[in-house]
Amino acid sequence: MLPYNLDHVAIAVADLDAALARFEELYGVTPIRRERIEDQGVEEAMLPIGGSHVQLLQPLSSDSPVGRFLERRGEGLHHVAFAVVDLEAALEHLRATGARLVDEQPRLGGGGHRIAFVHPEVFGGTLVELVEVEA
Ligand code: CO
Repeated sequence: MLPYNLDHVAIAVADLDAALARFEELYGVTPIRRERIEDQGVEEAMLPIGGSHVQLLQPLSSDSPVGRFLERRGEGLHHVAFAVVDLEAALEHLRATGARLVDEQPRLGGGGHRIAFVHPEVFGGTLVELVEVEA
């Protein structure tokens, strides 16, 4: 039931334009979409890698979760996202295991997908995002 696939690995960056240029220079990959997600306080770009993606995240302000992450830890791996086909069922399963959820209810993420974040304390100090996709 979960996870269905690795949807993306997200890296926090200070300068999205510079990061995209560097990524293209290094790996020859350009984004399939780029958008501002106001309620997460980020501008994000999705880079296709095989059947999955690398997501680059630039905070819209220093007073946002990714902004505070950058100040504390600098650029680097921010979260790992798993694709699920039924987000409510996935959240219910996690709740049943006692996992601490950042988002008790799904919210709208990039590309119009419903998403929810799972607290890093749940596994390995790694923030996990669940992304609902079509089966
Ligand atoms: Co993400």
